[in-house]
Amino acid sequence: EKGTYPHFMLKEIDEQPFVMRRIIKEYQTEDNKLKLDADVRQAMKACDRIYIIAAGTSYHAGLVGKEFIEKLANIPVEVHIASEFSYNMPLLSEKPLFIFISQSGETADSRAVLVRIKELGHSALTITNVPGSTLSREADYTLNLYAGPEIAVASTKAYTAQIAVLAILAVDTAQAKELELDFDPMQELAIVANAMEVLTDQKEAIEELVRENLGTTRNAFFIGRSTDYHVCQEGSLKLKEISYIQAEGFAGGELKHGTIALIEEGTPVIAIATQENVNLSIRGNVQEVAARGANTMVFSMKGLEQDTDAFVIPHVHELLTPLASVVPMQLLAYYAALHRDCDVDKPRNLAKSVTVE
Ligand code: F6R
Repeated sequence: EKGTYPHFMLKEIDEQPFVMRRIIKEYQTEDNKLKLDADVRQAMKACDRIYIIAAGTSYHAGLVGKEFIEKLANIPVEVHIASEFSYNMPLLSEKPLFIFISQSGETADSRAVLVRIKELGHSALTITNVPGSTLSREADYTLNLYAGPEIAVASTKAYTAQIAVLAILAVDTAQAKELELDFDPMQELAIVANAMEVLTDQKEAIEELVRENLGTTRNAFFIGRSTDYHVCQEGSLKLKEISYIQAEGFAGGELKHGTIALIEEGTPVIAIATQENVNLSIRGNVQEVAARGANTMVFSMKGLEQDTDAFVIPHVHELLTPLASVVPMQLLAYYAALHRDCDVDKPRNLAKSVTVE
């Protein structure tokens, strides 16, 4: 139940620090080792390529997960939109492993792919918030998200739970392969949980940004590079689905290849800047759009911030920044929807689980 919250979405945004801590607990043994099924570990170790299949927000989590698995576990990963995979199935590697990411475990587009690849004799792991769901039952292995029921149509805590579990899975695989690592996922996720608490305490600052910049606009753009680009895609999906503002996430480097033509006087442009190696270039993009009249808001990470930034998120490990930077994006969408009198928890035309292809 909502308790004192006006909407499930706000409650679920606020639950994220607790979900992080629950995931740490559930995936840790008493002597602080990672606790994953031996079967999952074996399947990850044995495959030569991973195909992540998902839709919507879960697809966006998959984009972040690809980075973990490639960088930490050294396995090539492709991320596919479930509904597209069926038409243009890529050439598969010799020993593929499929990972289905789905909050509900019922998404028909993802299930269609699962049925197809099982016919071909391949193995599948489902990462879901609903153990016992169709995708969980029909896959060989399941990892649980432990996020608790997600009621609002717009997915929030499931996205961050998916990313956290993918990080743990990547590290577990790296350990199984005896790769060198200087990344302790549990320690870093505990830091993330604290950062999320700081972020969810800053609702007024976000509401103020919405009032000043997103009150009446027809459109809004999100720009970022590298990992931040994935969060831009998720931030724009959140904003469009509940506030009906036309929003797009763009890779900073692509602006000059067409997108910048859309910038007019007053166009809101939200930039995410949490990655040191692209900080200068994304700042350059912010200046380019500002020079064409955009109303820019930079969301940076502590340590990379500048005086003019709209919002600074606490410092977290550079691989895990989406877990922190997405929180103000979720809150932006929430307050934009609220200020426009939209039905936050049940946006028009959308269903919580999409059981048709
Ligand atoms: C966005 C949203 C949808 C879902 C998508 C996949 O907020 O909720 O984009 O992420 O329909 O759903 P699951 O994860 O249940 O397969």
